[in-house]
Amino acid sequence: MKNYPKTEKYDQSWIEKNWMGPNPLWLAEDLCGHLDLRPGMKVLDMGCGKGITSVFLAKEYGVTVFANDLWISASDNLRRFEEAGVAGLVFPLHAEAHSLPYAEGFFDAAIAIDCYHYFGACESYFPDVFSKLVKPGGQLGIVVPGLKKEFAKGYPETLEQLWFPELFTFHSHKWWRTLWEKTGLCEITSCYDIEDSKAIWQPWADWSVENFAKEFGDGGGGDDFDARFLAADTNNDIVLIAMTAKKPI
Ligand SMILES: C[S@@+](CC[C@H](N)C(=O)[O-])C[C@H]1O[C@@H](n2cnc3c(N)ncnc32)[C@H](O)[C@@H]1O
Repeated sequence: MKNYPKTEKYDQSWIEKNWMGPNPLWLAEDLCGHLDLRPGMKVLDMGCGKGITSVFLAKEYGVTVFANDLWISASDNLRRFEEAGVAGLVFPLHAEAHSLPYAEGFFDAAIAIDCYHYFGACESYFPDVFSKLVKPGGQLGIVVPGLKKEFAKGYPETLEQLWFPELFTFHSHKWWRTLWEKTGLCEITSCYDIEDSKAIWQPWADWSVENFAKEFGDGGGGDDFDARFLAADTNNDIVLIAMTAKKPI
């Protein structure tokens, strides 16, 4: 698998204590390779979960981060940011993706790691909300779970037994590209399947078998779901997709 030298600096047990999906630091490092983040920039980390990507952004790029999440409380995240020594650069907020408290054009960049598919897979979210968060010339980036290509039924045959309606937000990178590009509101600067996506996903799936229920309670059979899902995907149709874009000046 590809090296992630920035992520290597972080304690694996701290990552595993706080991750909520496939290693978010690997995903953030991959994505940020296609963004130009500079010290002092204001960055929205949308759907930051327990905020480890927010810590990563502050430490690696010196940016000021607004760590926005719904399921995780801002107070819990503040404690984590204090412990990580970045509370002066990372501001925790609790807000739903459709009722955000930010001024239009406030951010230099807005990213969303492993969450945009929960609210952004509809036609209106990008033009009505996400694109408006960043200033002219501002940058946007997402990583989402998805599919290598579109399927007539919406899913590959191999996953028929495990598929459930919420997974219809899984799409191909071409589909995501079109969703943003057709609005004419941005220029796509990268859009790709992350190398070795399933190898990135597998450690989280393995961890979940042992720890998901302990950490998150019964998430509707969530404990070994990812492991069964990845194993059933014998044609390797499941991927992690990254996309970055820039708003015109
Ligand atoms: C799979 S977790 C990923 C969290 C984090 N980015 C990570 O990779 O560890 C998805 C996150 O999306 C957030 N989320 C889901 N729906 C949301 C919504 N409608 N508004 C804001 N955040 C949302 C949840 O609060 C959750 O923390």
